[in-house]
Amino acid sequence: MSETATITIEGKQYEYPVISGTEGEKAVDVRKLRGDTGYITYDDGYGNTGSCLSDITFVNGEVGILRHRGIPIEELAEHSSFLGTSFLVIYGHLPSNEEMAAFSDRISRNADLHEDFRHHFSGFPTDAHPMAVLSAMLNAVGCYHSEMTSNNREQDLEHFDRAAALLISKVRTIAAMTYRMGAGLPFVSSRENIGYVENFLHMMFSEEGAEYQATPEISRALDLFFLLHADHEQNCSTSTVRMVASGGANMFASVSAGVSALWGPLHGGANTAVVKMLQAIHDTGDDGSKFIEAAKSGKARLMGFGHRVYKNYDPRAKILGSATEVLLGSLGHSDPLLDIARHLEKAALEDEYFIERKLYPNVDFYSGLILKAVGIPVEMFTVMFAIGRMPGWIANWREIATGSKRIHRPRQIYTGKVDQHFVSAE
Ligand SMILES: CC(C)(COP(=O)(O)OP(=O)(O)OC[C@H]1O[C@@H](n2cnc3c(N)ncnc32)[C@H](O)[C@@H]1OP(=O)(O)O)[C@@H](O)C(=O)NCCC(=O)NCCS
Repeated sequence: MSETATITIEGKQYEYPVISGTEGEKAVDVRKLRGDTGYITYDDGYGNTGSCLSDITFVNGEVGILRHRGIPIEELAEHSSFLGTSFLVIYGHLPSNEEMAAFSDRISRNADLHEDFRHHFSGFPTDAHPMAVLSAMLNAVGCYHSEMTSNNREQDLEHFDRAAALLISKVRTIAAMTYRMGAGLPFVSSRENIGYVENFLHMMFSEEGAEYQATPEISRALDLFFLLHADHEQNCSTSTVRMVASGGANMFASVSAGVSALWGPLHGGANTAVVKMLQAIHDTGDDGSKFIEAAKSGKARLMGFGHRVYKNYDPRAKILGSATEVLLGSLGHSDPLLDIARHLEKAALEDEYFIERKLYPNVDFYSGLILKAVGIPVEMFTVMFAIGRMPGWIANWREIATGSKRIHRPRQIYTGKVDQHFVSAE
């Protein structure tokens, strides 16, 4: 007999089915609760709410597991690339050589932006925040592809392969152009026959007559950074993408909303906050010890620590921690901020406050140091996260577009005034 959960409300018992995921996760299916009882569930911040069934990513935060389509992140980090992992996340299986070649080719061919974009960029103040520019530009790209942005699911899905490649490719071009706009530099066109990361670095840093040459270590570190951000189940931005998609909005509009959601310091903005925190600690001559005390007393927050889901080491932080050492070693320079980060990590992992609350380093703790070593300016860090997260947003958009027909619409418990009446200002 299938398992059920019994809920007693006002003395009456109601039975609800228990559903299980493929990894043994359990949920009480309360979809009929309101109809049966008039009650809803209250779950501020959705910490106990499964908003969907999804085949894409599995996270077990208690023990620190992250798998895409069943494959552990450690194996992908070792054997795959950002584009290989993007294919896996989007299409559900590892690409064959032919599939990989076709996918990479579609991405390469879609790198450049329409000439009008020069005007769109010049419409922004040069100090506009890159995340604001990115969100606006992704929707703008959609305006040039009306066949992919019809908001008719069947039609938008017909163009899915091209739209997905176009977004993965152009998000990188927009990021590079935004950086150059802010730095007052001329835009650089993409090159053919070079890798995804190398092309990005070329569009960011090449100068007239001085082609930027990425070392293999830099390319590998940045590719790993993107790969480790490819998807992370129902976080704030991905849930936003799904929410927007549930209303029938096209992929460009949905991922543009995802960028806005990612911007906040408690989400994608944390990688920027970590480096700013490390710099501030360094500037005051502290080795991190005073900062730990401030974090414990609630006067400061140890950015890059703690996670809504991980109550153990974020596996991505482990991989990035060692990748940071390898990259800095290859560049032959040390970074005092890395020493502070290592000290903070060690001190926090041994401290009762952090142990009790199960606060461990998350993906943002080391990622900022990698980006800094590559020469990415701090204000671009969250944009880099967005480039990496694009395949996850696309895969989640597709799940909604091919699956659920219901618009997402949570309910609320109203706690405002009652029985008020209109009183004229006079
Ligand atoms: C990620 C984060 C928002 C998760 O929040 P959450 O699951 O809602 O956890 P809470 O805010 O309820 O924190 C639980 C307790 O740990 C403390 N805490 C959580 N993160 C902390 C941090 N980074 N530094 C110091 N204390 C922290 C809280 O103050 C709280 O303490 P209390 O029980 O004494 O009130 C939070 O850990 C955080 O702000 N981290 C820093 C930002 C960051 O790195 N974000 C990137 C996430 S990938």
